[in-house]
Amino acid sequence: MAILTVNGMQLSVDQNQKLLPFLRDTLHLTSVKNGCSEGACGTCMVLIDGKATKACVQQTDKLDGKTIVTVEGLSPREKDVYAYAFASAGAVQCGFCTPGMVISAKALLDQNPNPTRADVKEAIKNNICRCTGYKKIEDAVLLAAQLFRDNTVVPASELPGSVGDSIRRIEVVDKTLGLAMYADDIYLPDMLLGSCVRAAYPRAKVLSIDISAAKAVEGVVAVFTADDVPGAKKIGHLVQDYDVLIPVGSITHFLGDAIALVVAENAAALEAGKAAVKVEYEPLTPILSAEDASKDGYELVHLERKDNLLSYQCVKRGNADELIKNSAHVVTNHYSVPFTDHAFLEPECAVAEVEGDGVHIFSGDQGVYQTRKECAMMLGLPPEQVRVTAMMVGGGFGGKEDMSVQHHAALACYLLKRPVKVRFTRAESLQIHPKRHAMEMDFTTACDETGKLTAMRARIIADSGAYASLGGPVLQRACTHAAGPYNYQDVDIEGYAYYTNNPPGGAFRGFGVTQSCFATECNINQLAEKVGMTPFEFRYLNGIRPGQILPNGQIADETTALIETLDAVRSILERNPKAGLACAIKNSGLGVGVPDVGRCRIEVLDGKLHLHSSAACIGQGMGTIQTQFVKEITGLPLEQIIYHVPDTSSAPNSGNTTASRQTLFTGEAAVRAAKMVKAALDEAGSLEALEGQSFLGEYEGKTDSMGSDKANPVSHIAYGYATQVVELDEDGRVCCVTAAHDVGQAVNPISLEGQIEGGVVMSLGYALTEDFPLENGKPMRKFGTLGLFKANMTPDVKPIVLGKSTKDGLACGAKGVGEICSIPTAPAVQLAYYNRDGIFRTMLPLENTPYSKK
Ligand code: FES
Ligand code: FES
Repeated sequence: MAILTVNGMQLSVDQNQKLLPFLRDTLHLTSVKNGCSEGACGTCMVLIDGKATKACVQQTDKLDGKTIVTVEGLSPREKDVYAYAFASAGAVQCGFCTPGMVISAKALLDQNPNPTRADVKEAIKNNICRCTGYKKIEDAVLLAAQLFRDNTVVPASELPGSVGDSIRRIEVVDKTLGLAMYADDIYLPDMLLGSCVRAAYPRAKVLSIDISAAKAVEGVVAVFTADDVPGAKKIGHLVQDYDVLIPVGSITHFLGDAIALVVAENAAALEAGKAAVKVEYEPLTPILSAEDASKDGYELVHLERKDNLLSYQCVKRGNADELIKNSAHVVTNHYSVPFTDHAFLEPECAVAEVEGDGVHIFSGDQGVYQTRKECAMMLGLPPEQVRVTAMMVGGGFGGKEDMSVQHHAALACYLLKRPVKVRFTRAESLQIHPKRHAMEMDFTTACDETGKLTAMRARIIADSGAYASLGGPVLQRACTHAAGPYNYQDVDIEGYAYYTNNPPGGAFRGFGVTQSCFATECNINQLAEKVGMTPFEFRYLNGIRPGQILPNGQIADETTALIETLDAVRSILERNPKAGLACAIKNSGLGVGVPDVGRCRIEVLDGKLHLHSSAACIGQGMGTIQTQFVKEITGLPLEQIIYHVPDTSSAPNSGNTTASRQTLFTGEAAVRAAKMVKAALDEAGSLEALEGQSFLGEYEGKTDSMGSDKANPVSHIAYGYATQVVELDEDGRVCCVTAAHDVGQAVNPISLEGQIEGGVVMSLGYALTEDFPLENGKPMRKFGTLGLFKANMTPDVKPIVLGKSTKDGLACGAKGVGEICSIPTAPAVQLAYYNRDGIFRTMLPLENTPYSKK
């Protein structure tokens, strides 16, 4: 029993419990987020007697007499200032970390009204942000401090909001103040909680499942097994190989497999119910590496398949073997890169409620139509009977493309006719959602005596884990981009992705290119050394220019600006020749002949334009960007342009947020819809005359398929290019990363910078600190030991945004940047260390650096 004062109200807490669930589930103070419940992320930060404290590790009984403040309890002036400062600085992307950051900022500023940047870094060092790279959050806190000190009235925005304006994001105030709704913030009357019993072995035959004791637990409403699934027992993004629940008699594929779905009235009953499910297994030999999986006659991950090969990819042009044999310089290296976790701050959560004869799912995912498709398939319902509404997404980075919780929430809701929430713990999130693929890569690269690249050969082996997920396309992108952004055409690239009993490999920012770029760029540095050129000179000589032919045969278009990104960093290399350097290329859009359509519908209602598309905003600011496109074309003020979150009942299908495609594809669709509105407006004379009309913009990117026999196939609609430079300080720590990116036309420059800063910092982790070791298929990391960069270890990141597109191009000339910002960082870091100590490292995370685990 404890008496607490929460946001000025005195409350009695009878039963001892953790403070976090009390604040969220009892008081519904949803600014206090549950990112880990392990004291490792800072999303649950509250003030306790003025000190920033993680609510998830506090017991209420120990807080008797204490005063607790959450963001909801800030004064109106504080709310105004923090919302303004975070919005203006571009400090908010997915927003899941933001209220916790505000609390840490307030704790600092209440004590120190004039902090330095170092003070701010120290104050937020226990708040993890996976999106922003921290710099803009630090800017926001410094700006808030200034506004408080000067007692400045919060100014209004004066930017018109056209393409090229750094306007504040449309949802930023709600995210900053904890008002934006993520799926876990939904509390419906009569709502149940669901969670699955997971496999005890990565590979075992399920002999029996006894749910009788679990059903008898007080508060347990139902326990479902595979027999209860009314429709497809297996679902999946591209390949339907993912068991909704593992049936008796079948085998498990990894430790994340769901065996039984328990549904209960409350969290305690749910846990007791799960513990009471008895499963008998016959353990089988697990397949724990791609190497084992590839052996002839080895055990099978999926018994119905003839082998463990998920995908084979081949990109061959010219005569690489012959050219390599006759080249003046050849380098060959083997590279190993690990699994890594997305570590988005919001663990997966979905809520389903009954709607008509079907279900209505509230989901934080990367594509509401994909969720609808798979859930309808599983329920045996026509898609129209499954409605999916997007909630705010607390980070995705590719890790929320697959079903995780949505199908189980939908299943329980459909069978019980009651609302059901299914939410992953952080441990479940780490175990279950697909990871960035671990890859083993053998790369040979060759050039002539002048340094001109001649040919390359690559063999890539990917551990794709238990299920297909997007393992095939990820391997394909790793292969199609393996030769890098250079002007040579003789390539021989093969990739193999194998099923194993490890967690699945799937989409992750960079989509396979992050891995193969590491190998390519490192090889190129060795070639440069053999020739006697600097890495910069070598890239400048070979870098792709407009009109030249990429290694995949595509002709580089006139917007190609790789050389401009090199020019942008030239002076840094002249000043500091020991800096590390790497280049990258990344597609915008699915490409290679895969149907790829962006759609946006504009409805005129109440004298305003209402934008509907299913393009998920996972932190990149898709709603704001669409709004800016429509503003640019129609010229109407932003106040008259209303963005609606994706909902399958009202938005046209714009595909998934993946492959850096939404700004270009749905952006162009928004432009087209806006052009229709503009034409109609010009004719009708007023918006009122268009009341009730709807305008559908659609853009389909037509590309040539893999293996096309065209001399110069168009594999992708657009490519972005980048050069990044990494500098080390005297102690061997990264002190500065300069990231020059060809983005075409910047739509919202401050948002774009934020993407670049966040992507770079994410990949500093990939280069230096992050891994995801497994033992017998079990992750050996918790959220707190993943190796994520914190504010106080993050160097200065300097984005340089450039491009040659004009506003006349597709999507006003914009190209995607969401992935490429993460791609060249690791090889640039590798070169910086090579230049420092002469050790040519071929594994990630890099060994023997000041960041290495002792
Ligand atoms: S939820 Fe408390 S630190 Fe992560
Ligand atoms: S904005 Fe910080 S985690 Fe997404």
